[in-house]
Amino acid sequence: MGRIARETIDELNSRLDAVAVVGDYVKLEKKSGRWWGRCPFHNEKTPSFTVDPERKTYYCFGCHEGGSVINFVMEMDKLSFPETVELLAKRFGVPVMTDNSGVPVNTGAQDRKKDDLIGMYRRVAGSFSYILTETPEGAGALEYVRGRGVSDGLVRRFRLGYAPGDPFWLYRFLLGKGYSTDFLAESGLFTKANPRRSFFSGRLIFPIADRQGRIVAFGGRILGGDGPKYLNSSESLIYRKRDTLFALDLAVNEIRNRKEVIVAEGYMDVIALHEAGVCNAVAPLGTAFTVEQARLLARWADRIKLLFDSDAAGLAASAKAILTCRSAAIPAFVVKHDGPAEFKDPADMLKDKGAEYLQQFVKHSILDFEYLLAESKRSPDDSDSMRKARAVASLFPFLDLIDSEVERESYVRLIADAFGTGTQSVLYDYKVWHDGGYIAQRNTESPVSHTIKMTDELYPLAAAAVNCEANPSLFAKLRSAIPIEDFSDSYAKELYVTLEECNRAGNMNFEALINGIETGDLKQFVVEKAATREFSEKPEHIVADSIKKLKAKGLMRKRNELVARMRSERNNGLPVEDLMHEKMFIDSELQSLKGG
Ligand code: CTP
Ligand code: MN
Repeated sequence: MGRIARETIDELNSRLDAVAVVGDYVKLEKKSGRWWGRCPFHNEKTPSFTVDPERKTYYCFGCHEGGSVINFVMEMDKLSFPETVELLAKRFGVPVMTDNSGVPVNTGAQDRKKDDLIGMYRRVAGSFSYILTETPEGAGALEYVRGRGVSDGLVRRFRLGYAPGDPFWLYRFLLGKGYSTDFLAESGLFTKANPRRSFFSGRLIFPIADRQGRIVAFGGRILGGDGPKYLNSSESLIYRKRDTLFALDLAVNEIRNRKEVIVAEGYMDVIALHEAGVCNAVAPLGTAFTVEQARLLARWADRIKLLFDSDAAGLAASAKAILTCRSAAIPAFVVKHDGPAEFKDPADMLKDKGAEYLQQFVKHSILDFEYLLAESKRSPDDSDSMRKARAVASLFPFLDLIDSEVERESYVRLIADAFGTGTQSVLYDYKVWHDGGYIAQRNTESPVSHTIKMTDELYPLAAAAVNCEANPSLFAKLRSAIPIEDFSDSYAKELYVTLEECNRAGNMNFEALINGIETGDLKQFVVEKAATREFSEKPEHIVADSIKKLKAKGLMRKRNELVARMRSERNNGLPVEDLMHEKMFIDSELQSLKGG
């Protein structure tokens, strides 16, 4: 294809509506002469992305991405420059000319193939639909769909179909329409093992469309016999699972209107919701909800409502999807099944309770964090402090996705309240976890790295600290034996002071102690020692031995000082009797320490 003529690009630029084009991807609002939205190139919560309708450009004040509207579409839809120009030219009625010839350009080979694939899927979908609704072969499948509460109107709207039982039928059918074997091999309709055998035979067909409503893939549900419940087209030139959402084409208007989207788990759930008049419902394609899908939805929606199955898999999927939404900077709400789930999913509800019930059901949802907090509270037995710590830690992946420290702090407070612990402790555990620390590794034997070196002075204090709750007398012994002045290690001093404060406040518990430690490294050190249970064996012995050692060390230091003073006094002709007595006293004490 020849180069696109300059005049075409200029003409396109003068005719295109920048706000309309960008508005398809980003919600824009007019403020002081400019159009503002949330930047699609980086995660943000307040708009710093702008569109200039005169210049036909965009610019983000946050991440400094910017360029022409054509560049914008290229980037968003991952298209080449000529592809984008053609797309926009078509939309704004600009004829596309090539550089030299002045004749309209042909579409590239890749584009032709895409068009052919889309044409083929449309044709196949038409046949499947006809077989379902008009032939005896599809009668059983149609019966099945109706039996699940799906009206004929929705069968048409979703273009449902039935694939004939013969697994080689489709291949023959398409070959007869003139498609080449190579083309069919890349169509996503046939198995790798046998390129003539279709995924789709004897199955109820759910066409999967792109945003423009062009069918790009199929999902097929088994209706009897053995095999996986669902089979789906493999990915192709026109179909990428992680970027596609089932029923988005049918839901996008309602999503835009309500600024809200419901993400359900399966094809049947989405159809049930639409049947009940809840038309802003979509579903991922048998894979986990992806961040690409969340970002896509964030173009039209301010919030995502998750409505997954009530079984364990559904719960796990909700928790994961919440994080996915947050990574796309969009808050999620979870529609909560009541009590011990009466119904597994929306499809069941529609069938057993009807449209009205389903409509009411989706109205009640709770905010993502509330949901996670409730789930984490469900599991642990509060009396077990280890499990409590784990339950709290289960919320850290969520905290990790919060950009604002202020926002994070408010979540930390809610966690602390919910678990009856201090915000400092939650924050501290979080920081350690965030840095890859002990909480993440609690189940493994791997030692945690830390910057503090164990010293003779720190040793008994650490023993007293980690056991302060169970055995407060450890510190009591230590403080009566050795005054703080005798410590020179600054970490030991800090720990001593903190223990002293807890002691004085009559608050000898581990949490209070940890909260009281100012220095992060020291805090981590103590928490780690507690976690590794290094001091859980006979801490009395550790403290008693250390007291002796430290006393001896202190006495030796004093003795050395005395000896030095005696030497200098003697040199100056001064009496040293008193110093001598003192030294003898120290020597006898040292002796008794060794003996006792
Ligand atoms: N799925 C799949 N392959 C499977 C099972 C499930 O791709 N073997 C996908 C489908 O997209 C399905 C979704 O996961 O719609 C949810 O699975 P499930 O809850 O089992 O299916 P439902 O949609 O509830 O199907 P139905 O109500 O028809 O039993
Ligand atoms: Mn289901």
